Amino acid sequence: MENNRSTFQGKIGFVLAAAGSAVGLGNLWRFPYLAAKYGGGMFLLIYLILAITFGFVLMVTEIAIGRKTQLSPLRAFGALSKKWTWLGHLATIVPVLIFPYYCLIGGWVTKYAGVMISGKVGDAAQDSFFGEYISATVDPIIWFLIFIVATTLVVIFGVNKGIEKLSKVLMPALVVLTLVLSVYVVTRPGALAGVKYYLLPNIHDLSVKTFLSALGQLFYSMSLAMGIMITYGSYFSKEEHIEKASRQIEVFDTLIAFLAGLMIIPAVFVFSGGDKEALGTGPSLMFVTLPKVFNSMQGGAIIGALFFFLVLFAAITSSVSIMEAIVSGIIDRFNISRLKATLIVAVYGILLGIACSFGFGIWSNVKLFGFDILDFLDFISNSVLLPLVGMLTCIVVGFVTKPKTVIEEIELNGPFKMKGFYTVMVKWVAPIFIFAILVSSILQGFGVLTI
Ligand code: TRP
Repeated sequence: MENNRSTFQGKIGFVLAAAGSAVGLGNLWRFPYLAAKYGGGMFLLIYLILAITFGFVLMVTEIAIGRKTQLSPLRAFGALSKKWTWLGHLATIVPVLIFPYYCLIGGWVTKYAGVMISGKVGDAAQDSFFGEYISATVDPIIWFLIFIVATTLVVIFGVNKGIEKLSKVLMPALVVLTLVLSVYVVTRPGALAGVKYYLLPNIHDLSVKTFLSALGQLFYSMSLAMGIMITYGSYFSKEEHIEKASRQIEVFDTLIAFLAGLMIIPAVFVFSGGDKEALGTGPSLMFVTLPKVFNSMQGGAIIGALFFFLVLFAAITSSVSIMEAIVSGIIDRFNISRLKATLIVAVYGILLGIACSFGFGIWSNVKLFGFDILDFLDFISNSVLLPLVGMLTCIVVGFVTKPKTVIEEIELNGPFKMKGFYTVMVKWVAPIFIFAILVSSILQGFGVLTI
């Protein structure tokens, strides 16, 4: 893989490819439910601040490391400093943990696309529909298998090129539809309270949890601190400016997450009264709320079908690239054939995904540190590993290789405007801040601290 890295043609190609991988369930499913749960406007504000500071710093760093070393994440850190090889391995654990449950949620989306296509939007709009569906033993597994097998086939037959072409049409369609739906929702009676909750920060909603969940979500959504952007960086043309490309990916990814929140959170107020309980439902939020929106629209079944189909597409492009990351990591490390590696990952994903699904039904009494199985994987990867890898990446660049390694790589294509800011952030602000957030949330987890 290392030897014949083709480069993306032109920056737009790169930005589209990286953004295509970054935009997925993280933006449409995860961001809105976290924002609803952890303080609406406060969450949004913190997220935006973190995006233009930490998100930007890490994005630039990872792309620069990838382009400089021309290596996969497993080896890139080793090339920077022998002692830090393990950080590359730690980073690649994240996709391994995310993959099974990402595909399970992908299965939920597939199911909803199916329900909408069969015109049963009224059924899906019932309060109990989603809960009954995910707690069933067989049905969610079937949809999950459809999704994960489709992902595996794409990886095996390498039809990524075709998918990339499709995504140039379907992703903009998704953006437009999300925009239309958010306008529809925002103009419903009763939506204003939701818009206020989503856009106006309230100081009472500020907590360590808000920070940690926003930080984890930022990394998750932009595929940072998990090796992905290093891989993309290794394909990034030497002719293009990393700083500009990073900005574009960030803006695009954030815009979609923002619109998804604007579509879903006011809808919670319109259709469920916006009480604390409805806002705090977590992973089910999108699936419970949107069918009610579609049910209230003229031609809602068709729009709903189209919407879930587009979400499904965004989810597949991401699940394919998560699987690719794991597969190429395994090939890199164990030197086995591509097919074998892919099948191993598929079987692993199927087994763990089924466990996640049972976690909502027949295994719902199984709790890992108080979490359902899916929530546990999500917590370990997004609230523990991502901040940890992000912090360590900053430390390696800040103190081992020194920021000049990254700065020189960026300045190959013109001035690095935020150079001073970057240096201070990567050396001091980011690592210290992330460390503080991690420690305080661990203490909070053990009940030592209450903020
Ligand atoms: N960023 C993706 C999203 O928002 C999810 C994701 C996590 C991902 N890790 C990844 C995508 C690795 C591609 C590769 O949904």
